[in-house]
Amino acid sequence: MTSTSIIDSALQRSRRSFLKSGLAGGAALMAGSAAARAAGDPLITEIQDWNRYPGDGVDAAPYGQPSQFEAEVVRRDVPWLTADPISSINFTPLHELDGIITPNGLCFERHHGGKAVIAPADHRIIINGMVDTPLVFTMEDLKRFPRENRIYFLECAANSGMEWRGAQLNGCQFTHGMVHCVMYTGVPLRYLLAEAGVKPGGSWLLAEGADASAMTRSIPMDKALDDCLVAFKMNGEALRPEQGYPVRLVVPGWEGNMWVKWLRRLEVGDAPWAQREETSKYTDLMPDGKARRHTFLMDVKSVITSPSPQAPVTHGKGPLVITGLAWSGGGRISRVDVTIDGGRNWRTARIDGPSLPKALHRFYLEIDWDGSEMFLQSRAIDEDGYVQPTKDALRAVRGVNSIYHNNGIQTWQVRTDGMVENVEIS
Ligand code: MTE
Ligand code: CO
Repeated sequence: MTSTSIIDSALQRSRRSFLKSGLAGGAALMAGSAAARAAGDPLITEIQDWNRYPGDGVDAAPYGQPSQFEAEVVRRDVPWLTADPISSINFTPLHELDGIITPNGLCFERHHGGKAVIAPADHRIIINGMVDTPLVFTMEDLKRFPRENRIYFLECAANSGMEWRGAQLNGCQFTHGMVHCVMYTGVPLRYLLAEAGVKPGGSWLLAEGADASAMTRSIPMDKALDDCLVAFKMNGEALRPEQGYPVRLVVPGWEGNMWVKWLRRLEVGDAPWAQREETSKYTDLMPDGKARRHTFLMDVKSVITSPSPQAPVTHGKGPLVITGLAWSGGGRISRVDVTIDGGRNWRTARIDGPSLPKALHRFYLEIDWDGSEMFLQSRAIDEDGYVQPTKDALRAVRGVNSIYHNNGIQTWQVRTDGMVENVEIS
């Protein structure tokens, strides 16, 4: 059998048997170039320096860093987006990541008054307002409450906000990179509220940050008592300073702005407060000129992370792994569909890894690329049956005055040379 016919016959098998055959199937698909290499690739036939000489010892890096060959895997900002880096944003390099967990050093940052630096011994959290007993907790106090571990995505309401009027930024890092997903360790907020004793009629909570922006948001008491956490660890280690060290609020499934970092105050009240971040900002201006307020939930959304503009196809036609992320503030993702022809035909992608409520889901679709132009899209459906809308469907309801809550279907054009561009098709 020639190498081409080996590949062809492998591809003629059904998707089902391909998936069943697992590694063996994958190996057969790659057989052509892999067999050629076995005939004399110096990287396998000759001893290399790293194979000959010992490397650094265990004392070289007390806190480990990524490989030097991964130097491109970094957060990036877009300088023209904001007037100043102190009230600005950088983006998670989604195109370089896999699985569902975002490494701590790559979680996007959004600060309104720069990154506060607070020694844990100097940090306090006060609970006041409509409570029986106002309380002030130290970090040590906090760590004496029962704690829980939960994996959640955090998405800024402004994620994809630059794309409302058309395709603009060339890379999923920039169009969708205001999302991250980590495991938080923290104390359920209801334990702290119970300790202070919420007075009858206490139906809202004000969360305030200790940073220079004193970020302040109103949160309905039902949500506070449901699944919110006062978190001090992410992915097992202390919160990063960028993420609110020593403590932040976790508001699962709701817009990132409410996840107050450097949390210093919780006030119980009987109505929302109408702070800046819930009036002039984080409201959605509708076509009739009225603004929607309190649009807390992050709706069902997905994006193909590879191929994408920063992750072009460099290996030519043949086996190609399409992968991406899906999430919903409403719960789990039940299905992700992928199209390679701009929405004419859809195939169900394979969700792999944990499927947790209000967490990122990883999906894959393995295809045999014939080398022709593709228009890639993904469409997520959550467990409540909500289907991610097209951008046109979204605009039909919301108009184009919005910044926040753009969960429309993203299109990537893959050209015949493998280069990828952010486009829209109608
Ligand atoms: N909390 C404080 N104290 N100050 C802030 O500027 N930014 C908010 C929120 N909490 C902010 C804050 C916004 S808009 C978002 S999207 C998230 O934090 C971002 O969290 P991250 O920086 O950990 O990604
Ligand atoms: Co935000």
